[in-house]
Amino acid sequence: MNILVTGGAGFVGSHLCEALVERGDRVVALDNFDPFYPRERKLQNVNQLRDHVRFDLVERDLNVPESLVEVLAGGSFDVVVHLAAKAGIRASMRNPSAYIETNLGGTANLLEAMTRTSCRRLVFGSSSSVYGNNPGRPSREDDRVMPVSVYAMTKKSGEELCRVYSATQDFSVLCLRFFTVYGPRQRPEMAIHKFTRLLLNNEPIPLFGDGSMRRDYTYVDDITRGITSGIDFVTQHSGFDVVNLGSGMPPVTLNELVARLGWLSKLEPNVEYCPAPGGDVDSTCADINKAGGLLGYHPRVDLSEGLGRFLEWYRALAAGGAASYGHRAKFDTATKAS
Ligand SMILES: NC(=O)c1ccc[n+]([C@@H]2O[C@H](COP(=O)([O-])OP(=O)(O)OC[C@H]3O[C@@H](n4cnc5c(N)ncnc54)[C@H](O)[C@@H]3O)[C@@H](O)[C@H]2O)c1
Repeated sequence: MNILVTGGAGFVGSHLCEALVERGDRVVALDNFDPFYPRERKLQNVNQLRDHVRFDLVERDLNVPESLVEVLAGGSFDVVVHLAAKAGIRASMRNPSAYIETNLGGTANLLEAMTRTSCRRLVFGSSSSVYGNNPGRPSREDDRVMPVSVYAMTKKSGEELCRVYSATQDFSVLCLRFFTVYGPRQRPEMAIHKFTRLLLNNEPIPLFGDGSMRRDYTYVDDITRGITSGIDFVTQHSGFDVVNLGSGMPPVTLNELVARLGWLSKLEPNVEYCPAPGGDVDSTCADINKAGGLLGYHPRVDLSEGLGRFLEWYRALAAGGAASYGHRAKFDTATKAS
């Protein structure tokens, strides 16, 4: 298949591009190298893919509609996977209009550009944050959503835009709500990455509240398998649907997460408790029964194994030797030059 992955140079996007190229798809990754974290890191994410004959990277901005039309018109895409977004809950509270512009306006630009082509199949990267303060746990897809951050609101609004295009323009859309994704290349501001950096530098680790906040940490390879199944799903089904992708395990507190990182790295964490900023919810936990039934989604990597892999990647990165670590694929040797 020909697949466009927006946000393809990011954390989740780069893992997805590798998995798709590995299984034989032709992939175009679209990314604007948003400065939320360094461009260099994103170039490293796709470093080993860049010469592959079935991979192209195009630097384009979701907020420039004509460039989306140009990329879509030139690609004969079967499916679009929309992962490009301004990520980060706390940053969205500091700069709401930029999040609304990219996550909502950019999604509208993409959907509108798709109407100019024959591609009507979309997988949308949504978020567990849409459940917000709904106290029901584990969260089910038909639970009422109650976003408590601008970021979460943009993700829920993005889902609703997709629903509109499905109803009015005959799009097949699957919205996948990811639950805290981690693994090699995780964004530097996310908890596991940040805590590891501080722990290995013997610096204090700030934990919100009393450290009892719980998260459903989901390993990136499991998310990638879920997205890949989602791509196949939208090629075989019409209409609109929403599915959770979580770990399938009980959520883990921040205290427990830090203790596990300390145990794995054989270092004593130096924790400092601090007030929780607005926008974060106390707990996330996915009900993944629907994902199992519709997509055959069954997570394989538990937290200990996933944290071990993350630590191995991080140590190599810190030692300067992991420019493209996390490249799981044993690619065939077909490069653009050959
Ligand atoms: N990582 C998680 O835990 C998590 C959880 C829930 C949902 N998500 C969603 O999954 C997707 C991927 O997240 P990630 O963690 O890989 O983040 P990421 O920041 O690593 O990747 C997002 C990519 O989108 C690109 N981008 C941003 N604005 C753009 C624009 N205007 N035009 C083109 N590209 C643009 C960025 O440069 C970046 O490479 C996002 O949509 C995010 O909201 C992630």
